[in-house]
Amino acid sequence: MLRRMSKPVSGFSKKNKEEKIQWLIENYLVDVPNARELLTSYWHTNPKTQGLHDDFIENTLTNYYLPFGVAPNFLINGTLYALPMVIEESSVVAAAGNAAKFWLDRGGFKAEVISTEKNGQIHFNYFGKKTALETFFESVQPELLESIEHIQKNMKKRGGGLIDLELIDGTETLEGYYQIHCRFETGDAMGANFINSCLEAIAARFEEKAQTHAAFLSEDTLPEVVLSILSNYVPECRVRAEVSCNVSALGKTEQEGITFAQKFVRAIEIAKSETRRAVTHNKGIMNGIDALILATGNDFRAVEAGVHAYAARNGYYSSLTHAKIEDGIFTFWIELPLALGTVGGLTSLHPMVKLAFSILQKPNAKELMQIVAVAGLAQNFAAVRSLVTTGIQKGHMKMHLMNILNQLEATTNEKAAAIAHFADHSVSHANVTAFINSHRNSS
Ligand code: MEV
Repeated sequence: MLRRMSKPVSGFSKKNKEEKIQWLIENYLVDVPNARELLTSYWHTNPKTQGLHDDFIENTLTNYYLPFGVAPNFLINGTLYALPMVIEESSVVAAAGNAAKFWLDRGGFKAEVISTEKNGQIHFNYFGKKTALETFFESVQPELLESIEHIQKNMKKRGGGLIDLELIDGTETLEGYYQIHCRFETGDAMGANFINSCLEAIAARFEEKAQTHAAFLSEDTLPEVVLSILSNYVPECRVRAEVSCNVSALGKTEQEGITFAQKFVRAIEIAKSETRRAVTHNKGIMNGIDALILATGNDFRAVEAGVHAYAARNGYYSSLTHAKIEDGIFTFWIELPLALGTVGGLTSLHPMVKLAFSILQKPNAKELMQIVAVAGLAQNFAAVRSLVTTGIQKGHMKMHLMNILNQLEATTNEKAAAIAHFADHSVSHANVTAFINSHRNSS
């Protein structure tokens, strides 16, 4: 296929929306007759709401829909929740709902926040004597704290702020590399903007003060800041969720429960010891977590990066969930880092995010951490339960049936006939196509 060559465009972001669409169509979409209709038909009917979406990013042309569903019956620490989930994968919400119902009858989920600390670093070069740097760092700390007083004021009122600063020597791994490691509490905010503002102010004061520090002047070497940024690796912002019950309560008979529990624990052990399985296992956990993170307008990339780094904290990638059978009790739990916000960011801007928080009964950040951890645990329970019993495809393809029917542009009658037929026949693309073709031929 011959690729169309478009010319570079300057001042694109200054164009209005209509001009941007026109430019895009002329340069990349001439062969797509319904491009304009598609782009404009996804606009929100209320211009004010559309304006909000337009302003979230640069060069917004239209909106991109994902399903917003809900998984009810989550009993978490004695409170019954319905979890709002935004996800495209057919079986995720159904699986969450099934797991919630399963554990509702067995005491529900217990969750606790272990710690809530965030962190960020000022990464800098310094090639002089370490003792001179240490002395300078010790003496300049009050100045560094003073440099963020105005930024911290409101956060301090809410019980948060900078906890402390520490000089870290990274020269063993990289010549001349040091950092100031800063620890923060950020209350109900995820805190990225707050932390980054603090770090940049501290970094500027650090460099400014270094310039007149006698020991550096006499050595003719100065610390030089390379970059200052929060870390999305937050093992000190951790939450744990668990379920447990008598093994016999896991099956229709005691023996069925025992067999299931043993196979389930074995599946977790495999995910703990084998990277290829661990990645898919954790992907299933993230199905639940990301869906809730997206619904609540949190930063799923930050959560993903932090969670996977945590899964590899011992030098190899491993399962985020754990399971055991002890004295006839089956316990299944997850522990993971989650830096989440219930204020700030999109939380008060995106109408559906606001609605998601209302569905969740307006949790604070700690409660949201617990709910999200439970969503991950439930999703993993549902996946592993299917995997060690029926296999995943039965439930997955049942949910995927509607997507196949839509691909085949099935009518309402054809869909109804297919749903009835596939209630007791196995779903595959080929089987559904054959069924629809024969249905069409016979009518
Ligand atoms: C599919 O999205 C997720 C699973 O592959 C997770 C797993 O294998 O545990 C079913």
